[in-house]
Amino acid sequence: MEERINGTLGKLEIEKISSGICTGTSWFETHGPVIMSEDPSTGRDIAAVQSAGYDDYDLMIKGAERAFLEWRRWPAPKRAEIVRQIGIKLREYKEDLGRLISIEAGKILQEGMGEVQEMIDICDFALGQARMMNGVMLRSERPDHKMYDQYHPLGIVGIVTSFNFPMAVWAWNTMLAVTGGNVVVWKPSSRTPLTAVAVHKVISGVLSANEVPEGVFNLVVAKSSVLGDRFIEDRRIALLSITGSTKVGRHAAQLAGKRFGKVILELGGNNAALVMPSANLDLAIPSIVFGAVGTAGQRCTTTRRVIVHEAIYDKVKERLVNAYRQLESRIGNPLNENTLIGPLIDSAAVDAYKIAISNALSEGGKLAYGNSIVSGPGIETNNFVMPTIIEAQNHFRIVQEETFAPILYLIKAGSLEEAIAFNNDVPQGLSSTLFTTSLAEAEQWLAEGGSDCGMANVNLSTSGAEIGGAFGGEKDTGGGRESGSDAWKLYMRRQTVNVNYGNEMPLAQGIRFEL
Ligand code: UN1
Repeated sequence: MEERINGTLGKLEIEKISSGICTGTSWFETHGPVIMSEDPSTGRDIAAVQSAGYDDYDLMIKGAERAFLEWRRWPAPKRAEIVRQIGIKLREYKEDLGRLISIEAGKILQEGMGEVQEMIDICDFALGQARMMNGVMLRSERPDHKMYDQYHPLGIVGIVTSFNFPMAVWAWNTMLAVTGGNVVVWKPSSRTPLTAVAVHKVISGVLSANEVPEGVFNLVVAKSSVLGDRFIEDRRIALLSITGSTKVGRHAAQLAGKRFGKVILELGGNNAALVMPSANLDLAIPSIVFGAVGTAGQRCTTTRRVIVHEAIYDKVKERLVNAYRQLESRIGNPLNENTLIGPLIDSAAVDAYKIAISNALSEGGKLAYGNSIVSGPGIETNNFVMPTIIEAQNHFRIVQEETFAPILYLIKAGSLEEAIAFNNDVPQGLSSTLFTTSLAEAEQWLAEGGSDCGMANVNLSTSGAEIGGAFGGEKDTGGGRESGSDAWKLYMRRQTVNVNYGNEMPLAQGIRFEL
């Protein structure tokens, strides 16, 4: 195992101590504290990053400002050619990067590689989008006037990512932002700095071969105590795309709001799967289990609540518990092929798991399965937890919160209407799904009175979204959208253009103003 880990680090050129700032191809000397990255599966140190101090950051931003002036003049398809080549590099390094995600973030290898696939997919998507960053021609009410809208880049886009998708979320934002002519500054989670360093090592050859201005693709590893608020308050950052908890997002939105900074927020989810009597349970049960225990419950799209019609409640409970029993032998090191559930990211996450379960039980919940720390052969830390099912009620305080752990609350509903009401009756609004074979029920769920979430599915998991759709949610999830559909527009400033090509000055609304 140790050898395999060193092999991956070597292939990705991860040094014992990496610099905390990269501007594309050059790495600065940085002056902040050293951040050691630890493997959550073994507790062993992987490698370290010398984080950035504020002055290091400031220097990098000055370079990004210069780079923007040049980069914005490159034609969009030419910018996207860089993105295309990055996509090829990512294909080449898919397994190594996937492995590093497993090592540093604890995700199983399948999910690590799936994450790299999301990066490849968004490169392809942005490549196509490059020729379709269109405004529309609008009809002027005045003779000899032309009106249309167009999209220009904003400038520097700041990207803050979380440990659970330590690469893909950067790619969703970056590929669209740079294709649109922006430059990016990426601040990864300090729990997963090495994955960010590795991505920059992988793409740097493409940047130098194509003479991309230094300062278009920036990485800054810094402690939040050094750069947290100052990053958000920095007027030079035209747009901040932040993935994290609702608490972090609320604070950031308030700070950015003071300077009218644009934000894209991807915050907490509290995603429900609704199961109606007509549902095909052979499809529903594995989808729910994947949604609930995948990434050890540490996705923002994780299924946290299962809202089941009372007519099939007992059956669904039994089948879920049976499925969970089969998972026991599949918990372990994420690099092993047999593993389906890796560790939680750290001991604080394990504490949150324990506290949430104890709160749910003290509020009247009934344990149906789980509630233990896993130990045994091959398990080297206390970060592995048993996926847990608790019979609960939607209004419990703990059920209203997002706990980043594999805890599934089982909730009984008397009707589809009640199930929809429960789905919506939480502060968050990211993802949701309904299992049914009734067309009428599915349409009711998708109508304006149905799910209030940013993503509403029928007969598939709440997690595992494709990049082609706009990703994000409502309410406390922050309202942001990233990735597919027309999310690219959020990285641009829209300009309405009016041109008078005649010799008269007709005013809109028929107003007369004669001198
Ligand atoms: C996240 O957890 O922050 O839909 C992102 C999914 C993944 C992305 C999750 N494609 O589960």
